[in-house]
Amino acid sequence: MSIVDLPLLPLGKGRDLDAERGVECPGDLPAASDPGLVERARAAKAALGERLFVLGHHYQRDEVIQFADVTGDSFKLARDAAGRPAAEFIVFCGVHFMAESADILTSPTQRVILPDLAAGCSMADMARLRQVEDAWDAMADAGIQDSVVPVTYMNSSADIKAFCGRNGGVVCTSSNADVALEWAQEQRPGAKILFLPDQHLGRNTAVLKMGMSLEDCVVWDPQQPGGGLSAEELQDARMILWKGHCSVHGRFSADVVDELRIKHPGINILVHPECTHEVVLKADLVGSTEFIIKTIEAAEPGTVWAIGTELNLVQRLKDAHPDKTIVFLDRNVCYCSTMNRIDLPHLVWALENLVAGTVVNQITVDPETEADALLALQRMLDLPGKSHRD
Ligand code: 13P
Ligand code: SF4
Repeated sequence: MSIVDLPLLPLGKGRDLDAERGVECPGDLPAASDPGLVERARAAKAALGERLFVLGHHYQRDEVIQFADVTGDSFKLARDAAGRPAAEFIVFCGVHFMAESADILTSPTQRVILPDLAAGCSMADMARLRQVEDAWDAMADAGIQDSVVPVTYMNSSADIKAFCGRNGGVVCTSSNADVALEWAQEQRPGAKILFLPDQHLGRNTAVLKMGMSLEDCVVWDPQQPGGGLSAEELQDARMILWKGHCSVHGRFSADVVDELRIKHPGINILVHPECTHEVVLKADLVGSTEFIIKTIEAAEPGTVWAIGTELNLVQRLKDAHPDKTIVFLDRNVCYCSTMNRIDLPHLVWALENLVAGTVVNQITVDPETEADALLALQRMLDLPGKSHRD
């Protein structure tokens, strides 16, 4: 079996620095039980001063997020990374594709560090460049390639972003997917969109924001010959969705929404657009992590909310808003296991190495990939306005 055929390597086994896959963490980590870890992180941050900028995604653990200079969703963090040219070291508390994007958006002298290289993303792993190029060739064979605009979710590897850049496409995040799809439709007469790698964000945006029907959407399955689609199906589609999904948001179910509506009459269901279409249809509000936070902040005291997104964020919102009732939209615990790889021992280890003059776990994107990926990222940053949602 070739590496491309593997859906995921087991975390912590082997090394594949160019991918979202699990890799070993080199070096001696401080023990998680060390009571001095918080003090050590503070001391290392203070020693690095303005040379250091720590970014933290909303799904990070509390023990890590307390050391972030800024927190945000993928869109905000991409912008923030680009906005701190004086920082020598960008420590990214998030996952691999976010650190890659930060490397692309920062200057060559700035170094981006991911405290644990095993912090990948199973969704990003579901679209590999060779598979996407095979799909692109099939679109040429079906006579539609010239009208297809590729759009990739931020949650994809740098080489997929580069593919979009060199083929006239764009990157989007969950806070601007609708604006990116509008842009894509304007690029070519009768444009079709190839949406990578999250079928749910693509479908939810196409149907709920762009006025397309479910019949306008087809799913390209990279595990099937020809994507499992005929040339006619490709020709008739307006939206070609890659068969990828988020293993965290894919867990939320319409049954639990029904149960909660019975248990808490008047409850508001607030979900991320990576959830399935069925769940999103049953929700009251849908939006990115940044939108979810703003919605809860603006909510009236006494209101009741069920939130369908990663559990670290839901717990933090619950703690920050004791005047509102906030419940998690899943019966079970549901952290993102790769986001959770970044813990305090890894953060302390990375920061103390920087203080000692050793750059560990640097994420670098090769210059050719970087140039093409930057085209697609810059097109996103240049999109008019912001999402209709935010
Ligand atoms: P946003 O940060 O765009 O809301 O995406 C959520 C996510 O799954 C990040 O991995
Ligand atoms: Fe990937 Fe989902 Fe985890 Fe985000 S929450 S990093 S999309 S697996």
